[in-house]
Amino acid sequence: MCGIVGYIGDQDATPIILNGLKKLEYRGYDSAGIAVLQDGKIEVRRDAGKLNKLTAMVEMNPMTGNLGIGHTRWATHGMPTVNNAHPHMGSTGEVVVVHNGIVENYLELKEELLAEGIQFKSETDTETIVHLIELYLGLEADFTAAACKALSRLRGAHGVVTFSTREPDKIVAARIGNAGGVVVGLGDGENYLASDIPAILEYTRRMIFLESEQMVVLTKDEVKLTNFDGSPVKPEINTISWDPVSAEKGEYRHFMQKEIHEQVRSLTDTLAGRVDFDQGKISLAQLNLTAEKAKQIQKIIITACGTAAYAGMVGKFLIEHIARIPVEVDIASEFRYRDPIVDENTVVIAVSQSGETADTLAAMELAKRKGATLWANVNVIGSQAMRISDGFISMQTGPEIGVASTKAFTAPLVDFYMLAILLADLRGTIKEKERRQLVSDLRLVPNLVSKILQSEEGIIQAAREFKFIKSALYLGRGINMPIAYEGALKLKEISYIHAEGYPAGEMKHGPIALVDRDMPVIAIAPKDPWYEKMISQIEQAKARGGSVLVVATEGDEKVAELADHVFWVPETPWLLSPVITVIPLQMFAYHIASLRGLDVDQPRNLAKSVTVE
Ligand code: F6R
Repeated sequence: MCGIVGYIGDQDATPIILNGLKKLEYRGYDSAGIAVLQDGKIEVRRDAGKLNKLTAMVEMNPMTGNLGIGHTRWATHGMPTVNNAHPHMGSTGEVVVVHNGIVENYLELKEELLAEGIQFKSETDTETIVHLIELYLGLEADFTAAACKALSRLRGAHGVVTFSTREPDKIVAARIGNAGGVVVGLGDGENYLASDIPAILEYTRRMIFLESEQMVVLTKDEVKLTNFDGSPVKPEINTISWDPVSAEKGEYRHFMQKEIHEQVRSLTDTLAGRVDFDQGKISLAQLNLTAEKAKQIQKIIITACGTAAYAGMVGKFLIEHIARIPVEVDIASEFRYRDPIVDENTVVIAVSQSGETADTLAAMELAKRKGATLWANVNVIGSQAMRISDGFISMQTGPEIGVASTKAFTAPLVDFYMLAILLADLRGTIKEKERRQLVSDLRLVPNLVSKILQSEEGIIQAAREFKFIKSALYLGRGINMPIAYEGALKLKEISYIHAEGYPAGEMKHGPIALVDRDMPVIAIAPKDPWYEKMISQIEQAKARGGSVLVVATEGDEKVAELADHVFWVPETPWLLSPVITVIPLQMFAYHIASLRGLDVDQPRNLAKSVTVE
């Protein structure tokens, strides 16, 4: 949450920072601001609201300089007002700070600073950082040392970036705790900083990821990485393979729409290099999984938040069905505060697009402390989840910018499918013929996805009809039950329509009371082993006057007769069906929100990477 960009070099920092912030707006859009060192003075522009307000402000009142920092905010402490917008300046005008995260001990620090006679201008926790640096700068005269002293007093999880007129050739940044990633981009005679790769991907692919409790001092020619105690750290330079164009909207109106359509490519990439169709084998090299290790596993716990957790529910189904290993799915924010039963024979798998979700990281750390093997299914390269895991499966989706996750939902489904086959193979619990069939079915996926994407027109028509609904009930069973949760989440988060996902078999235990003319039922009923059960559920809903929209397999006459609307999906091997059934629901949610004129990519109150609790 909150996006940060920094630049130091010979170019004008302002357009580079504004351009970087544009790429990071998905991280927060309550306010935006920029600070540039202009003629030895810190110039700040900031405003409440979205980035375009800041851009207009900079156009009206330009600023220029070779060093600068910028910020997009997702408010935690203090309302989204101009005063609370970053960057924050101290009282002397010599220091400026942008920050991502929460200073957990800010009240204590604020009291100390108030006792020194320092006056606060905002309600943010961030302002304590800038005053603290200035306080130490008064005593130290060395900006880097003052910043280090101040930053090492912060508790919580943050990324902080600061510069000062005292040392006008430097930017100092730090990562404290697990969340709040800081990425350094290496240029030639210039260097970059960001909270996230896409902000600077257009300028460089060579990047360094800060670990917790590390600080970096950037000049235009040098990058000095240290621990807080000043001891030097040899930086590991990563070359990022993501295509910068994939972080652009291109011909699409919204990133979400583009990312829905990218699923043919992301799923093709998901299979590349991992599936040997000739031998009917799967290889997931970065998991570091041996047959001996696979045989030791007694239990798997999948932990994640939101959409990633729903992907985990499908994962449970696949691993239990194919590899016959017991699997639990645990919401990370719950898991981290329980005393879960985990030991060295347990594998904990974290699913996370960003790899920076605070609750997921905390769950991973708890699992590690308890001796579990830690795996991550993660998208962002170099993210904390990837780095702290014992092995990982990297989602091959490229950057996901739309706040509502789409392609980073379908990739883990295929990753789990492959993992389940690999585990079964290594444990010797699957017959060769069955394994070969399961592997061979994977070949169908990109084509099936491509087919559904061609049916968008019908989905737009249904969206037109449904765009004014107040509520919706999504029902699914078996392997498609999590798709009911995911379909409902997509609708509520971008269109602000109340929607509930429910296991269809639970209807009669309460929720059926909700069904009437005004409560549409969206049933996921492809030709899978629960098909007959779903049909009887649809019949019950119809009998109560509900309007029913069904996701069904092409050619299903029974559904055609019963349903008010059908989203047809091509016939799919049932273990892969969630990859296919979710796509019309993603498009449906997208078009409803879009027809309602809502900001699909930046829904209210949300941000992409939830790096705070
Ligand atoms: C919903 C959505 C969220 C995320 C959740 C976890 O569309 O995107 O529910 O899935 O915040 O985020 P990651 O996967 O980054 O850990």
